[in-house]
Amino acid sequence: MLIANMSPRTMAKTTDTGWLSHALVEDEEAYEVEGYDADHSKQFWSWSQPHKGNFAFPVHLMASAQFHKEVVPPTGKTIAMVDCGHSENHPHIADSVLRIADLVILHMSPTAGDWERIVEPEDATPFKDILARSAPLRATGRKPETWVLLNRTVANAGSTGYYREEMAKEGYNVFTTVIPRSERLADSIGAPVEGAAKTAFGSLVTEMKKRGLLPVGEQEAGR
Ligand SMILES: Nc1ncnc2c1ncn2[C@@H]1O[C@H](COP(=O)(O)OP(=O)(O)OP(=O)(O)O)[C@@H](O)[C@H]1O
Ligand SMILES: [Mg+2]
Repeated sequence: MLIANMSPRTMAKTTDTGWLSHALVEDEEAYEVEGYDADHSKQFWSWSQPHKGNFAFPVHLMASAQFHKEVVPPTGKTIAMVDCGHSENHPHIADSVLRIADLVILHMSPTAGDWERIVEPEDATPFKDILARSAPLRATGRKPETWVLLNRTVANAGSTGYYREEMAKEGYNVFTTVIPRSERLADSIGAPVEGAAKTAFGSLVTEMKKRGLLPVGEQEAGR
């Protein structure tokens, strides 16, 4: 399966993608990850390199409007993890990735600024419309399943519940698991990732399995 990690602008995608990828690899289901960097910044790819994060899985450069022609989503327990760029600035790449994504994770912080850029941008296409326009170009004819992952949350802050509700009102699924604001995560790009399964990203993998969003057990077919 192929998971597209997306957001209209900088919303902690690359950080989340790096950590979630490692939590998948560390999980008892022993997922294999094939990384794709679909952002011109090349930051996911760069993070993976031997002199930086030295990832145990490959990350391929693929910031291409032909993404859907170049990449075949893997089957079984191999997960293609795609780190996308800003969908508001690179709609062609976003459209291409969305043609073949099995699951979209929309990364955002529970803030007015992020909510506005996703739901009511002044000068861009609302993310919901970007998802909707992918439907006729997909094999299923339906838009990809999409879940919001709230990140940089502050313990006990009302913003987490408030924006969870606001996104639900917009029709989005929102993961129960949230990624807390933390110095360790803030400063993690470029360094090895260790113990991801013991962080909120491990809880996220557990939640994804429970919700049937990841292949589990002996099943061989991709979702
Ligand atoms: N859990 C966290 N707690 C605190 N800071 C975080 C957390 N996750 C990410 N950050 C910080 O948020 C900023 C944006 O993160 P990141 O580069 O991962 O976003 P992005 O969506 O990939 O951005 P871009 O689309 O521009 O590449 C960075 O400064 C990063 O250190
Ligand atoms: Mg990034």
